Amino acid sequence: MVKNGKLQDTIEEAVTRLKSGDVVAIPTETVYGLAAVASNLSAIKKVFQVKDRPTEDPLILHIADEKQLNEIAEEVPAKAKLLIKAFWPGPLTLVFKKKKNIDGLLTANLNTVAVRMPKHDIALEIIKKVNQPLAAPSANRFQSISPTTAEAVDKELGNKIALIVDGGPCEQGIESTVVSCVDELKILRLGAVAVEDIEMTLGETVFFEKKEAKDHSVPQVSPGLLSFHYAPKTPLRLYNRLAELFQDLEQTPDLKTAAALILFSKKEAEQVQNKIQSIFVLSETGSLTEAAKNFFSTLRRVDERQPKYILALRVPEQGLGRAINDRLQKAQHN
Ligand code: TXA
Ligand code: MG
Repeated sequence: MVKNGKLQDTIEEAVTRLKSGDVVAIPTETVYGLAAVASNLSAIKKVFQVKDRPTEDPLILHIADEKQLNEIAEEVPAKAKLLIKAFWPGPLTLVFKKKKNIDGLLTANLNTVAVRMPKHDIALEIIKKVNQPLAAPSANRFQSISPTTAEAVDKELGNKIALIVDGGPCEQGIESTVVSCVDELKILRLGAVAVEDIEMTLGETVFFEKKEAKDHSVPQVSPGLLSFHYAPKTPLRLYNRLAELFQDLEQTPDLKTAAALILFSKKEAEQVQNKIQSIFVLSETGSLTEAAKNFFSTLRRVDERQPKYILALRVPEQGLGRAINDRLQKAQHN
């Protein structure tokens, strides 16, 4: 339930509930998270149950203070320290070798653990008051569209959780970038910190490990990187170029009225205008930051209209555009 009372009262209620082992949806700068006290295993089990998420998918621990990292990570390599200095608090999740006290339920039995310090006043206040790290996956049903407003959380999980803390729309709109700091640095998930910014901070190129699978039956694949994810209920067709879209519109006349099209900018929309009735633009001005912020909320809005198909064109493959394209790719289905 989204609370309409005073925000401060809702925050206090969230803290009390979390301390007593309940799960609570909280805002962060990326997407809303379904939080539970990381050391409370029955609360963590609830997180998996509420999301209907397999336990092969490890969780991110959210901290409010760098000291909390020492209780979680076995070691913090020098390059990770540079990234922490540059991006925490912020939408960067770092994967470390875990300390023994971190339970395997949080980490899908891996010997590593994912940690981030969110840049959101409400999230930080709640973590500080609970005085323990919180595990928080995105507050959506498994493989569904990530929620970037309290209303979206309510639609996803409202009937299963007692409290949603409403912090307004999320500033970033897509999830954190996940970087493994175990052995060689590598990017495991593209997200709200651009790869270019990470590379600039480190002064070197960083490998993006694009491992994914259709299901969890392939053990060597990193968990949580399934190829089908973030998906609307409506079938979604993704095009690499405008020409491909035009060709499909010509071959399938039905699309003109039955489909809804998601485009990056107004400039593209002008080129398509007469060919399809329903067009949604991610950023009027052609900003990838704005497009990222609007991405999941647009996808959700379009899906709710129940067109026969959602059509989408890849956005520019640079900066946050790579993270948006990654999500579009995973949202594709027939
Ligand atoms: O922005 C975010 O990261 C949001 C907000 C709520 O903080 N959270 C989020 O959590 O997106 P979730 O559970 O939806 O995604 C967690 C990602 C998955 O891709 C998972 O595989 C990866 O983090 N991950 C977690 N622990 C890992 C580990 N030990 N090794 C490799 N990847 C890990
Ligand atoms: Mg998620």
